[in-house]
Amino acid sequence: MFKERVFSGVQPTGNLHLGNYLGAITKFVALQERYDCIYCVVDLHAITVWQDPAELPRATREVTAAFIACGIDPKQNIVFNQSQVAEHAELGWIFNCIARMGWLNRMTQFKEKAGKDRENASVGLYSYPTLMAADILVYRATHVPVGEDQKQHLELSRDVAQKFNNDYAVSIHAHGFGDAFFPLPEPLITGPATRVMSLRDGTKKMSKSDASDYSRINLTDDAEAIAQKIRKAKTDPEPLPSEEKGLLSRPEADNLVGIYAALQGVTKSDVLRDYGGAQFSSFKGALVDLAVAKLGPIGAEMKRLVQDPAFIDSVLAEGAGRAQAIAADTMKAVKDIVGLVRR
Ligand code: TYM
Repeated sequence: MFKERVFSGVQPTGNLHLGNYLGAITKFVALQERYDCIYCVVDLHAITVWQDPAELPRATREVTAAFIACGIDPKQNIVFNQSQVAEHAELGWIFNCIARMGWLNRMTQFKEKAGKDRENASVGLYSYPTLMAADILVYRATHVPVGEDQKQHLELSRDVAQKFNNDYAVSIHAHGFGDAFFPLPEPLITGPATRVMSLRDGTKKMSKSDASDYSRINLTDDAEAIAQKIRKAKTDPEPLPSEEKGLLSRPEADNLVGIYAALQGVTKSDVLRDYGGAQFSSFKGALVDLAVAKLGPIGAEMKRLVQDPAFIDSVLAEGAGRAQAIAADTMKAVKDIVGLVRR
């Protein structure tokens, strides 16, 4: 009943890495063949923690460059930055009035990011997931490709959509929208690398904010840096197993095999069929070759694109115009449904 539409977002907080690429951006690229897709640089989410205003524009343009360098076509899809479409924040406010404190209190990402000093965390960081629900639902998107770490936020988006549909059921019907105004967006969390782990510690997620640059492969790393980081990646002393169950309780081995599989577009079993019994030294050599072949051209293209900020800004402006046309229609309907008088 709802038109199928994909939405996803990436924060411009620096250091885009292999986890962002394999967990999210490669999926964005694949989905553009089958769906109408909207890909957003979520700068309003970025400022839930301090961002240097002299750096943020560069980071926003860099994520946009990464989208394009990875193969997203901004003509066929909509690519823009969140703050240019004010309807995100507007619907976010309405969702603040739908979501319950108890729901937000359960969000593990807030607990991790706020740490012990909760009193000092921004209110924006706390209500982050309601803005995320607004990002998706302002386009009434049905499918959301993300990494595993965003699963709980997606569940909250579904809860918000469901509660809005229930609370306003009579008004939704009276305004001619049938039984439900918002779809319940489905997370798309698939493939062998939905949670890429740190190269220094297979039990920790690969993250933009890890103090050690050796924990992650950045999309802008050159061949030498990629090779060094993979060669230094933590492993255990055993050779690779021949079957997937042999990766259980071997987080570092599991991670490297998952990365190889995702880069090559095959399963972990396929990788182990070829490399079962191999020592890490030889497997890492193959992984370096594969990673450099796949990521090298992307990093080079990103560096080329960010040197042309006028081009990037024109992509973002054009995308924002197209996004806003959809978002404005949703907001008109939402205001009518909620009972807010409008011009
Ligand atoms: P962000 O910017 O932290 O990450 C962008 C995408 O990368 C995925 N990801 C990973 N996947 C696998 N392994 C990892 N180590 C890894 N690290 C990050 C994330 O799951 C994400 O898909 N809240 C979102 C941004 C957002 C959004 C949205 C996403 C805002 N509004 C609406 C979808 C829909 C975030 O912080 O992503």
